[in-house]
Amino acid sequence: MNKKQSILITGGAGYIGSMLSTELVKIGYKVTVLDNLTYKKNSLSHLKNKKNFRLIVGSVLNKSLVKRSIKNHDFIIPLAGLVGAPLCDKFPKLARLVNLESVIFMRKCLEKNQKVIFATTNSGYGVGKKNKFCTERSKLNPISLYGRTKVQAEKEVMKFKNSISFRLATVFGKSFRMRTDLLVNNFVWEAMKTKKLTLFEPHFRRNYIHVKDIVKVFVFAINNFYKMRSNVYNVGLSSANLTKLSLAKKIKKQIKGLRIQINNNQKDPDKRDYFVSNKKIEKKGFKAKFTIENGITELLKTYKSDKFKILNNY
Ligand SMILES: NC(=O)c1ccc[n+]([C@@H]2O[C@H](COP(=O)([O-])OP(=O)(O)OC[C@H]3O[C@@H](n4cnc5c(N)ncnc54)[C@H](O)[C@@H]3O)[C@@H](O)[C@H]2O)c1
Repeated sequence: MNKKQSILITGGAGYIGSMLSTELVKIGYKVTVLDNLTYKKNSLSHLKNKKNFRLIVGSVLNKSLVKRSIKNHDFIIPLAGLVGAPLCDKFPKLARLVNLESVIFMRKCLEKNQKVIFATTNSGYGVGKKNKFCTERSKLNPISLYGRTKVQAEKEVMKFKNSISFRLATVFGKSFRMRTDLLVNNFVWEAMKTKKLTLFEPHFRRNYIHVKDIVKVFVFAINNFYKMRSNVYNVGLSSANLTKLSLAKKIKKQIKGLRIQINNNQKDPDKRDYFVSNKKIEKKGFKAKFTIENGITELLKTYKSDKFKILNNY
């Protein structure tokens, strides 16, 4: 690894970004984060005295700032976004601007030798076929505005040769900026607080991955960029292609007396129902490892800690 390489992470103060920035600074890269700090203001405060870290507080919608920030960075990791279907439905115009328009602008500012590692959602697959795994060749069928903005942004990013796009499974686990809206994190939170989990569409399938494995896959891509570029990859934990009901049962094993109820009247706004194949990235040499069971244990410990407060989740 060339430790002098520099990396710009937009949205680097967020759930994934704060964990990724921390690891990249630890490894020795020069890391710049551009984030408007919509949520937690201090998710990167532990990095403030590090010589190889810089935080720019600002918006990816500020074109002159983006242009200046991109300059002199070897890697650009655009994570800034309005993340999740409910948030995008609440602020549709802003969602299009941040999730799509800012990415198009960023791409136009790139110099030929710069490299991009993008993160999108595998919810772009929409409703999958029964008993079939979605691969990177499966047709994209995003249902929500969130899914549509991310699918379009990926298309734009991939016009640039030096790009990789990761279609991430639903992430779980502890972060410096916690999100309890994500499915596993949310189920564990509800189950712990109320001793009850009410599931709608319990047989809907999804793939999951721990945030530490997400950090690892970005580091893997930085180290193996030329072997991987100009490609999209599904990134998830292959042993965690689970229905909501089987996830709930795994949580029940760790929370005594948990009641699981089914609500047949409510629908999933994202209509996510698919299994995902992660074989393509596994063949390149990356395999996610952190299990759902360990993640549930970690989340319970985190939520029970005195320091844990739910602030600015969405
Ligand atoms: N968490 C997941 O399960 C998941 C799954 C698939 C893809 N992703 C993608 O990963 C990326 C990061 O997601 P996350 O879970 O860390 O979400 P997050 O909400 O924690 O992080 C988003 C960050 O973007 C910042 N931001 C928002 N608008 C901005 C603006 N105008 N200018 C600058 N910064 C701005 C926020 O302050 C926040 O720090 C997103 O692009 C998301 O689509 C996440």
